[in-house]
Amino acid sequence: MSQNREQWGSKLGFILAASGSAVGIGNIWKYPSMAGQNGGGAFTIIYLACILIVGLSIVVAEFVIGRKTQLSPVGAFEQLAPNTNWKWVGFLGVAAAFVILSFYGVVGGWILKYIIDSLSGGFTELAGNTDAASVVFNEFITSTFSPIIYQLFFMGLCIFVIIKGVKGGIEKWSKIMMPLIVVLLGVLAIRGMTLEGGMAGISFLFNPRFEDLTASAIVLALGHSFFTVSLGMGTMITYGSYLNKKQNLVTSALWVIFLDTAIAMLAGVAIFTTVFALGGNPAEGPGLIFVILPSVFPQLAGGTLWGTIFFILLFMAALTSAISILEVVTAYFIDQKGWSRKKATLQFGGVITIVGVFCSFSLGGGINITGFLGMPFFDVMDYLSSKYMLPIGGMLTAIFILKKWGISEYMIELKTGMEGMNLSSSLVKIFLIISALVVAFIIFNEIYFEIAGKALIG
Ligand code: PFF
Repeated sequence: MSQNREQWGSKLGFILAASGSAVGIGNIWKYPSMAGQNGGGAFTIIYLACILIVGLSIVVAEFVIGRKTQLSPVGAFEQLAPNTNWKWVGFLGVAAAFVILSFYGVVGGWILKYIIDSLSGGFTELAGNTDAASVVFNEFITSTFSPIIYQLFFMGLCIFVIIKGVKGGIEKWSKIMMPLIVVLLGVLAIRGMTLEGGMAGISFLFNPRFEDLTASAIVLALGHSFFTVSLGMGTMITYGSYLNKKQNLVTSALWVIFLDTAIAMLAGVAIFTTVFALGGNPAEGPGLIFVILPSVFPQLAGGTLWGTIFFILLFMAALTSAISILEVVTAYFIDQKGWSRKKATLQFGGVITIVGVFCSFSLGGGINITGFLGMPFFDVMDYLSSKYMLPIGGMLTAIFILKKWGISEYMIELKTGMEGMNLSSSLVKIFLIISALVVAFIIFNEIYFEIAGKALIG
């Protein structure tokens, strides 16, 4: 263990930083629309099962690997399995960090632009007019320079926080932003529930409709459980590497999963109560956030305030996730190459920003990088990371523990810090086996779909 490795200042700080990574754009634009459209409460039951079996097993596994080795992913796998190919699982994580942050930073920039638009009353003319809101959004994201300027701001902030270090940057900012996200979302959810007709949004989100729960919804729930808890690319290995031996890793992981899920549900309540009360369309993904909401908020009394609150909290959620991604890359260059934190962050934060500029261009604002997989570069990055890189990384992490490191060695590190709590190694093993098998099937299903044009299930 390196003598001067940075450490978290407190247990709470670590939990807030890890849940800050988990709670991101995915919680706010993916979970609510997925649940609403795929059987409401029925989807949520499946999602909870995925997150409690697969999500929990892999979060704990990443924490254990990080804390044991006190290293970021590449070094961690190298230390536990010297002179083997397992270090490539670590490299896959660093590569995934590049891929995800390049498009995530672009979306972070869009959010920043929407805060400013909302504050300056720019949504007022979009009231009730989704067509106009859609034109504004499309014109913005397909223009050349404007999205890049906002993206640069967003990435600049990430770089600023990461340069400040683990305790003085990541932990400090997560401790401010995470409670604020919960409070602001709570305020928006109460506002939505007290609107006439708002409760219809709650039933859209939570009423179990088993007839709408298709096989593809189950596959969706599993895939999302990786992205939403930031798994499979070593973020939690990196965050775990700044821990001391006193932390109970199982309860910490349960906290992260609980906060991630609770905030996703709260976001769903805040969004759908408002959308249903004002007769909006419960659309999916970016359209829900950047088109429907800007046309819905100005119809409320004090709409400028509600819109601004929403985009500020979304911005904070995006920032606490983006910094965790940048930390994976930074920690690699510090641990493996001996670089200073400042040099690693500036150089690779810069490289990722440049890749992000091409993601933004690919949406129409310049160089049209289509052709590869038949989608814009921006979508390719999203597709590669969420469909392949994260699930493969997570599956290999589970296999690594089962086949290479060994469950008994793993249990020794896992049990450190949880004295008094009984945990059977067979149960841990079963959870890891189920996770590896289920994820292997999902990846196979996706590849089969690409080759055969139809999925085995879904
Ligand atoms: N968990 C984040 C979200 O739900 O938006 C996304 C993410 C962050 C994925 C960090 C992976 C990661 F390492």
